[in-house]
Amino acid sequence: MQVALTARIADTTDRAIAEAAGCLRAGGLVAFPTETVYGLGADAANPRAVAGIYEAKGRPSFNPLIAHVADLAAARQIARFDARALALAEAFWPGPLTLVLPKLENCPVSDLATAGLDTVAIRVPDHPVAHALLQAFGGAVVAPSANISGHVSPTTAAHVKADLDGRIDMIVDGGPVEVGVESTIVGCFEQPMLLRPGGLPREAIERVLGVALARPPEEPATDNHQPLAPGMLASHYAPRTPVRLMAGHVEPGEALLAFGAATLTGIEHAAAVMNLSKDGDLGEAAANLFGYLRALDAVGAAAIAVMPVPHHGLGEAINDRLRRAAV
Ligand code: TXA
Ligand code: MG
Repeated sequence: MQVALTARIADTTDRAIAEAAGCLRAGGLVAFPTETVYGLGADAANPRAVAGIYEAKGRPSFNPLIAHVADLAAARQIARFDARALALAEAFWPGPLTLVLPKLENCPVSDLATAGLDTVAIRVPDHPVAHALLQAFGGAVVAPSANISGHVSPTTAAHVKADLDGRIDMIVDGGPVEVGVESTIVGCFEQPMLLRPGGLPREAIERVLGVALARPPEEPATDNHQPLAPGMLASHYAPRTPVRLMAGHVEPGEALLAFGAATLTGIEHAAAVMNLSKDGDLGEAAANLFGYLRALDAVGAAAIAVMPVPHHGLGEAINDRLRRAAV
């Protein structure tokens, strides 16, 4: 794919990967593909580079970042793994699972990236470009989703460009991502906790743990508290167009985000219709979700009506993002 960028764009050749790693080493900001969504990477050990991420995204600095590493051995240089954390890492890494773990005393990840917490979020992405970049760089790379804070996460290099062009140094274009929603975040606390539903279904995690994942406590309604899972802020992943959930019909002037084979009354008046998955496949729906929200947001409709999506498997993450999009 060719997209014109002010930020330096690169393909995924060895030379481009080496250049991107050099850019990270020099304190630069590099957007790169993972299997879930595109990330905006910086050297985790460089506080100035990390500060650049918060600035480029307009992200509140109390919201900590995920450290990305090439493998479990690298992760064990950063955080303490107990038996349960090891079991999860061994079962699901590389893959769309982030573990929140106690930081090691000499943890190389900057305090700014962990928002001063004594825990750190870590994941090993399952994407050849991300893996090559992490190998070439050699250290941990903190990377939030490569969008302006509060916007829909990017699933293509063009989405990254639309949000961050001119604010970052480089975008490595690996084509559209496969999973399409962010990683599942599990807090490895005394009772393992589902901090964010995501690209790895809860059921798979609970099978390995042999126990149910706890729910995070309700957050107090203040602005300046330290959230347990700050990505759970109510309004997030939001298009500009209002979103109406559980639609059973289409109002004139609305755009429709459909799911499955059923058709709705009023569909002939829809400003636009996109179907997450005609076959009702939740994996396909997750992969399409953010791109379709962006596309329908561009139509200028009165609202985006969204048909119900089943809540099992990846449906839990899809419904979580839709609920936040509707706030
Ligand atoms: O799939 C993903 O996870 C993508 C790709 C790029 O890896 N990244 C991503 O990052 O979604 P971001 O920054 O958009 O979301 C990170 C989430 C936030 O909700 C943050 O609050 C939470 O991880 N988080 C990070 N460190 C944490 C910690 N120590 N304790 C609790 N939550 C943490
Ligand atoms: Mg994000």
